[in-house]
Amino acid sequence: KMAAQREQLDLLSNKLYQRNETNCIPSNRYTTDLVRVFIANELSKISGIDTIKLHDAILWNSKGDDSDFMIPVPKFGKQSIPFDQLAKHWAEKFPKNPYIYKVTSKGPFLKFFVDPKFLFNSVVPEILNTNTKYGSRQHESKKKVVVEFSSPNIAKPFHAGHLRSTIIGGFISNLYETMGWDVIRMNYLGDWGKQFGLLAVGYAKYGNQHLLDTDPINHLFDIYVRINKDKDQETQSGVDTIDTEAKKYFKKMETNDPEALKLWKTFRSLSIDKYVDTYARLGIHFDVYSGESHVPKEKMENALNIFEQKGLLEESQGATVIDLTKIDKKLGKTIIKKSDGTTLYLTRDVGAALQRYEEYHFDKMIYVIATQQDLYTSQLFQLLKYMNFPWANTLEHINFGMVKGMSTRKGTVVFLDNILEDAKEKVLTIMKNNPSKYSQIQDPEIVADSIGVSAIMIQDMQSKRINNYKFEWNRMLSFEGDTGPYLQYAHSRLYSIAQSHEHLSTARPDFDLLREKEAESLIRLLSQYPDVLESAMSSEEPCTIVTYLFKVAHQVSSCYKTLWVTGQSDDIASARLALYNASRQVLHNGMSLLGLTPVNRM
Ligand code: ARG
Repeated sequence: KMAAQREQLDLLSNKLYQRNETNCIPSNRYTTDLVRVFIANELSKISGIDTIKLHDAILWNSKGDDSDFMIPVPKFGKQSIPFDQLAKHWAEKFPKNPYIYKVTSKGPFLKFFVDPKFLFNSVVPEILNTNTKYGSRQHESKKKVVVEFSSPNIAKPFHAGHLRSTIIGGFISNLYETMGWDVIRMNYLGDWGKQFGLLAVGYAKYGNQHLLDTDPINHLFDIYVRINKDKDQETQSGVDTIDTEAKKYFKKMETNDPEALKLWKTFRSLSIDKYVDTYARLGIHFDVYSGESHVPKEKMENALNIFEQKGLLEESQGATVIDLTKIDKKLGKTIIKKSDGTTLYLTRDVGAALQRYEEYHFDKMIYVIATQQDLYTSQLFQLLKYMNFPWANTLEHINFGMVKGMSTRKGTVVFLDNILEDAKEKVLTIMKNNPSKYSQIQDPEIVADSIGVSAIMIQDMQSKRINNYKFEWNRMLSFEGDTGPYLQYAHSRLYSIAQSHEHLSTARPDFDLLREKEAESLIRLLSQYPDVLESAMSSEEPCTIVTYLFKVAHQVSSCYKTLWVTGQSDDIASARLALYNASRQVLHNGMSLLGLTPVNRM
């Protein structure tokens, strides 16, 4: 009977979606989508208002403590009767049906309460059938987004800003992919500039092939620090051998001298190999390792010519300055070409954007960069708009605040790898405190790594991106409170329940046996997951997902008190187990989306 009801809703929604010309394909419609279609359809008959208008006015209640859906009547403009009365009238006329058990009005709002029985029967199978795909969307024509994130600088530390860009960018990429976009994950390395001349000079003096092969990132940074010191000492005593040599070397690189480029290429590719491994620990991969070095000269000249034509360029003490106050007072003036002819960061970024559009024809491009570069990024975007590239309007800056107090045992200069290593060690120590449990874990190192990564990531994504936060080992590693380890614990506990009841079938449980309030609240939460993803798409905030996952974990934990599986009759146990399995799947999907690797045992 329930299956037939759902089929009817599917038909109804086919009609509406066709009229609406959204290109969401049928297999991607979830229970809440269907309920919205039903509401709009019935209410249209009552009110005479267009179904699509009604459909688009439906709000979902993310708090989940009151009604499931709401419609603000004033949304439809002036009516012949006052809004309050109209809302009341429509609520009274709403027909009896299997999906919505109650419609009320409160002031000018209509409130809809979805029948939990319908939710159990529709949502649990939906989750268990679509499993890792639950919540995702597909579109007939895929849109393309380029997400540029992480973007560290070779031979310089991978600092907290890069860590946040990596975590947030990874999430944003996953989110777009889940929502049916074609995603290009791009790393724009700081791999060009005169510091590479200096690094080459430093390498001749301090370089060690073995260290370069085994630990390129630390070795190159070490060389860079030492040669900089030497250079500063020279400057103090009025000598400039190192500096001159470095400049000469970089000049050779800029004029494509194969010998000079060979060493630089080695530095770059060894560093990338290392990055690839470290990113993999975070569950992140890049489709493209581009970088400042990859911007073609002609693209930059192209850009400079357009600036010239637009009358934006000025000479100032031999350097070329771009006057952005002509576009917007706030943007100020900035150097774009130095007196020695070298082009700078901004020109390069303009060139890079031109090239990326040519190559990818993206529908949207996202830059995940710290708020310290807000002004810079808006200079870049405004400039591209001013140059009249239609795609410039699709650029988006996803920014974030600072991390304070990040350091490792080795000191305050932070390399991502060391941070992850420290996290893993700390988790291992905690795990070893419980020897009997520890001995049951097959691969403790791998589990500890996943939990350590979760701790760091959840700490980062817990509040709005723009907020600064303090890096605190004790708090993020705690198994109590809203932390990464707690989420992992919630997931692994559900996994172990499933394991110990493998013999039970969850194919067609009798959901009428789920009567507890706790179970109802849980199923309502689970039904909201696809809507939570939509809402994360509009906020582009990882905390939208994090907050939701904690709600699910807490609700599951209140269910444990009353909804036992062990020691129950098979039919009750099966219904409860199906609900728990669905909850585990939703946690799994949400955690993976954030970039965590859900663990099964810990
Ligand atoms: N490498 C830069 C830094 O470390 C970040 C690059 C940001 N992206 C860009 N297109 N400018 O600060």
